[in-house]
Amino acid sequence: MAVFALLVTKHKLLLFVFGILTMLGLNSFIAVAELERFEQPIKADGSLSFLVVGDWGRRGGYNQSQVAFQMGKVGEKLDVDFIISTGDNFYEDGLTGVNDPAFEELYSKIYTAPSLQKQWYNVLGNHDYRGDVLAQLSPILRKLDSRWMCLRSFIVDAEIVEFFFVDTTPFVDKYFTEKKHSYDWRGVLPREEYLLNLLKDVDRALKGSNAAWKVVVGHHTIRSAGHHGNTVELVTQLLPILQANDVDLYINGHDHCLEHISSPDSPLQFLTSGGGSKAWRGDVKWWNPAEMKLYYDGQGFMSMRITKAEVDVAFYDVLGNVLHKWSSSKPLRSSA
Ligand SMILES: *[C@@H]1O[C@H](CO)[C@@H](O)[C@H](O)[C@H]1NC(C)=O
Repeated sequence: MAVFALLVTKHKLLLFVFGILTMLGLNSFIAVAELERFEQPIKADGSLSFLVVGDWGRRGGYNQSQVAFQMGKVGEKLDVDFIISTGDNFYEDGLTGVNDPAFEELYSKIYTAPSLQKQWYNVLGNHDYRGDVLAQLSPILRKLDSRWMCLRSFIVDAEIVEFFFVDTTPFVDKYFTEKKHSYDWRGVLPREEYLLNLLKDVDRALKGSNAAWKVVVGHHTIRSAGHHGNTVELVTQLLPILQANDVDLYINGHDHCLEHISSPDSPLQFLTSGGGSKAWRGDVKWWNPAEMKLYYDGQGFMSMRITKAEVDVAFYDVLGNVLHKWSSSKPLRSSA
């Protein structure tokens, strides 16, 4: 408890120091590596389609293969441009190294449909941090399966929409105190510095974005009625940045369900796609029905089609049934 209190205090102190430096215009003295940026081309008709799946790698079990099969069908119908994985890619404990056969057995040999042979943008979940975290980030995996791309935090720039992938696991206090599991924090420590730099990078990148739509992707929930519920660390540290920068969508996994929660006071939507394999936890909490647009406790995935003017979201179960659809449009901004 004392260690925990000290951590919080140290974090606050760093934030304070950082705030003072910012006021003095000296924050450029804090060395910050910019988030790596990737260009994603859009279709000739100006649209972009993709699927989102999370919490999946279980050797095909717990309906992982059924979800993969339906993803293949929907992926073909929508002619998807890429796939997003919201993390917890390999259960239970990530990969043991770049030679871990689990990479092929839980990923390459499962998502075999032709329509899924596209770029996968992956983030890490807490279970991935329990293994050799550098293995999943290694370019060696890209040689084994060219679809694979996993970084901690990065930007995908698709002209009409910008995606900001955020490494959320290091935000969660309990992973740093629990004795039950060990986590591979190489590249994350010192933690306070890592988190401050990350928040600053995300904030700056969002502020600099001219895209019509801003989408943030992380493993952990911000708002969820599922087993894990809201992630308080993200509610206090990341959510204010999303709100201040008019982010349209926050997409996550972690809770093994499909879920859509709207905001009472802003356009920001919370979309959970964590139904890639084991689900049916059965402990859903009450949530204000005015905000809760979908809660499905079973397996499935999400699709999205984006144009400059419109976003269309759909959720599917293991049989490919559409569980929920949602659309949003915005007036086209003149590009002066
Ligand atoms: C697989 O999906 C079906 C249909 O939703 C469900 O009835 C079944 O319980 C699921 N199996 C597991 C292991 O979750």
